[in-house]
Amino acid sequence: MQNSSLACIVSVMNYLKKTDPQIYTLIKQEEKRQRDALEMIPSENYTSRAVMEALGSVLTNKYSEGFPGRRYYQGNAVIDSVEMLCQERAKKLFGVPYVNVQALSGSPANSAVYLAVLENGEKLMGLSLAYGGHITHGHKLGLSGRLFTFAHYTLDEKTEMLDYDEIERQVRKEKPKLLICGFTAYPRKIDFKHFAQIAETVDAYLMADISHITGLIIAGVHPSPVEYAHIITTTTHKTLRGPRGALIMVTEKGLKKNPDLPKRIETAIIPGLQGGPHDNQTAAIAVALKEASTAAFKKYGEQIVKNAKALAMELLNYDFDLVSGGTDNHLILIDLRNKKVNGRVAAIALEAAGIVLNYNGVPEDTMPPLYASGIRLGTPAITTRGMKEGEMKMIAKWINTAIEEVKGWDLPRDDKEKRGALMKEYRARIAANKELDAIASEIKLFCAKFPVP
Ligand SMILES: Cc1ncc(COP(=O)(O)O)c(C=O)c1O
Repeated sequence: MQNSSLACIVSVMNYLKKTDPQIYTLIKQEEKRQRDALEMIPSENYTSRAVMEALGSVLTNKYSEGFPGRRYYQGNAVIDSVEMLCQERAKKLFGVPYVNVQALSGSPANSAVYLAVLENGEKLMGLSLAYGGHITHGHKLGLSGRLFTFAHYTLDEKTEMLDYDEIERQVRKEKPKLLICGFTAYPRKIDFKHFAQIAETVDAYLMADISHITGLIIAGVHPSPVEYAHIITTTTHKTLRGPRGALIMVTEKGLKKNPDLPKRIETAIIPGLQGGPHDNQTAAIAVALKEASTAAFKKYGEQIVKNAKALAMELLNYDFDLVSGGTDNHLILIDLRNKKVNGRVAAIALEAAGIVLNYNGVPEDTMPPLYASGIRLGTPAITTRGMKEGEMKMIAKWINTAIEEVKGWDLPRDDKEKRGALMKEYRARIAANKELDAIASEIKLFCAKFPVP
């Protein structure tokens, strides 16, 4: 099956090879990179060939501004069926009465919600970016921060987890109209019921942005916000394993609070933010939703968490300082300050060793975001390749060896010039590092045993 689907992809690429060999070659290089290394960025995954076929289909040719049954263009009978099928699958899978499938990605989906429920200048509140929130949850440079007022809650300094009493205190003080929960770099479970109780104290809308944990919720290994939130947004390309894209859902509770929410969200999408939806993407999301409704996907979600927990245990054994002490979900945030290695420095060394992840801020980080003190890694993509707990042991060992190799490479916070010079020297040394090269070769052989879908 693997071979026949690969053969199909190769034949499709034959047109590209002839028309544009440069792009063809670059895609081939990227395919190889994705195959030969451990993809451990927690927001990334390998989507299925079926999803990619839908994404590369003739649906990309169509314009369909509007919604099923009320389009501004002719010729949309098939597109209407595709969009309605996608909506129905999402409604059934999540158990919600309304789904919008047109937002082009997670950030525009969040923006659409803000346009739908907030007037200019009204207040939203989410977890601070510096503590694991997303840039679209109220950052001064983003749309959410420029059109609206925002406030942030943070994490408890000691536990590095959400402190619900403190969040309630801040919410009562700030009185946001929209409270956001759901995060980008938070390794623990989210208590949606508690968030709902807090939102109710100020009569705020509760929006759950479940982009990172959608697949875990579908698999039943993370609680669902459906009973508690008014609005739910999610990307479709992370743990869900779909194409890049997003869903905006309104729950029964949301409809009760404001029956106009679906209409307001549609108006926010068009004419608010977008023109025509990407119908090929809608079809590919529908395929991913079908795949996610199987028993195999439930097992997959369970294995993602088992793998993350196993990896966390191993990393603790190597004296890595894990933010919050471990993980309940698919991701791990490592504070590298005890190892005297800067996060960006570590991420570069790990990439040279064949382990791809991202540098990330950690709670109370004093370093600027481009030179953050931690790294963030996750198990969705390697679990897609079939890796299990035994493999996590080996990965932890490789991570430890690579970090030991660059131990002591810390960077100054304020001296930009010195930092730049150190980075230059560091990159040159990494390029010539035999130990990291040897790990990369081992990982390449190891990866060959776990085929990319
Ligand atoms: C919680 C959360 N919301 C929204 C987004 C934005 O998604 P996109 O990159 O598709 O705009 C992300 C992306 O990482 C995310 O982690």
